[in-house]
Amino acid sequence: AGLGAQTQPAQAAGGQGGGEAPQITVLYGTETGNAEGVAKQLAERATQKGLKARAVDMAEYKTKDLKSETHVVLVSATHGEGDPPDPAAPFFEFLWSRKAPKLKGTKFAVFSLGDSSYVNFCQAGKDLDARFEELGGERLAERVDTDVDYEDDAEAWVEKLVGLLESEAAPAGQPASPGAPAALQGVLGGLPGAAPAADKPKHSRKNPYQAEILDAVVLNGRHSTKETRHIELSLEDSGLTFEPGDSLGIVPENEDATVERVVDSLGLTPGDTVHVNGAEKSLGDALKRDLELTMLTPGFLQAYADAAESEELRALLAEDNREALHTFMGANQVADVLARYPVSGLDAATFTGMLRKLQPRLYSIASSQAALPDEVHLTVGVTRYTSDGKPRNGVASTYLAERREPGETVPVYVDHNKAFKLPSDPTTPLIMIGPGTGVAPFRAFLQEREEMGATGKNWLFFGERTFREDFLYQTDWQQFRKDGLLTRMDVAFSRDQKEKVYVQDRVRQRSRDVYAWLQEGANLYVCGDADAMAPAVHEALTDVVKDEGGLSREDAQAYLKQLQQERRYQRDVY
Ligand code: 2AM
Repeated sequence: AGLGAQTQPAQAAGGQGGGEAPQITVLYGTETGNAEGVAKQLAERATQKGLKARAVDMAEYKTKDLKSETHVVLVSATHGEGDPPDPAAPFFEFLWSRKAPKLKGTKFAVFSLGDSSYVNFCQAGKDLDARFEELGGERLAERVDTDVDYEDDAEAWVEKLVGLLESEAAPAGQPASPGAPAALQGVLGGLPGAAPAADKPKHSRKNPYQAEILDAVVLNGRHSTKETRHIELSLEDSGLTFEPGDSLGIVPENEDATVERVVDSLGLTPGDTVHVNGAEKSLGDALKRDLELTMLTPGFLQAYADAAESEELRALLAEDNREALHTFMGANQVADVLARYPVSGLDAATFTGMLRKLQPRLYSIASSQAALPDEVHLTVGVTRYTSDGKPRNGVASTYLAERREPGETVPVYVDHNKAFKLPSDPTTPLIMIGPGTGVAPFRAFLQEREEMGATGKNWLFFGERTFREDFLYQTDWQQFRKDGLLTRMDVAFSRDQKEKVYVQDRVRQRSRDVYAWLQEGANLYVCGDADAMAPAVHEALTDVVKDEGGLSREDAQAYLKQLQQERRYQRDVY
């Protein structure tokens, strides 16, 4: 209530200044919704300040309008190896095509979201920034690149940029007007930032909920080569809400043994004092709870290469060595780097300053809140093996599997993912492809559809190593089959015969029906491994559409692209 007045200040400012306030267009490229959130925060804040601003999805933006824009703010996420978010791809293509307009007289600013553990950190934002300049645009503010914990940077940037835009809007010779009339200013001034307080969930990434572990069971048989855990957590009284397709963030702790290895290789003592996240702590505590030790980042390697004066590391970081760097980061952890490239005299403060903040890990939720209101289930693949005698343990999976037991709590929050959602129409058929832990969200999908009485057909493709040891949630699928909810299920047990069989082979074998379902309007979902599985499944789907639809390869690819644009083909891959 009272916020209805938000649309009025623009007029008031126009009236006071005597001229039209310029239209500010905030374009966002988003996959999961983070960039969208920042863009909307900016547009709302600007509107509160009496400016004329709108936030528009790049996927929906009419590119022919670009040439008449005077103020464009770009907020973009980066995906995979430096790519723009899928839905924004056509906008990027347009910008780099011959149709892109000259942008002389257009003021612009870029905010980019990324993940600094990737080599091409924030690449999509960097590209936009460079391209707008190349097209003649005038940079209003320096680009800001943010990491996975972007929230604080986003808030600060929104305030700064709105300030700049206000002075833009102020008529020459006059200081920036306060925008809203005094009475209204009072109302708006009382707001704690851009979003109304009521919208903010009590628990978030920065203020996680302590969820009790209700149950934890190993889903594999005793002789399995894998360990996959089903973990049930209590959400009672948390106020947390989620939809199928969302993820749960787990805030983990590093293993004591890992902390010891690191402290020992540097010749430091765990009791040394350091400052992390604005607090004074012991080195041991900071390494356990606040800093990333299992995952390497290019930023850490750069700083460490300089400290250790290692030519070998510097060479690895050279521009033309991306592939080797990628491999190295995948195969080593912080302790391995310290052991391999020893350094002397590195003090605790300098060393901790090089490390990335320990990031929560996201797990696709395996249960439906409609069906189980007070719980959340996860399917956790436990990463625990040694390579060359060095431990290679995943921080969050071993934290959940070994360092916390039922009855104890773990800090959690919900990470909403709007790029992986059930169709709103309950009659839409679903084709779900989820080998390994990728099957998790489909358990949530089916629970939800059962609870809602959704009548659409459901087809699940599942793959694992062996039928006997690794058929995750076998009894759940059997029950869903019996209830008539699961229309079809195809399984690929890769190690039950001499030749490997994968889900993409099953998709090819069922080519005719897969295509028929797509033509009937089915939605297609793929979840699981991003490196090998998802591209191989995409290739199989391309063949299905090509062969069954009698299309060329290019047209088959365009068909799938179209499905992605319509959000009928969605992926949650990692
Ligand atoms: P594998 O380990 O026998 O090679 C879940 O991990 C399942 O995914 C396993 O059966 C695994 O088989 C399989 N898998 C491995 N590589 C794959 C790929 N490129 N495409 C699809 N499935 C794959």
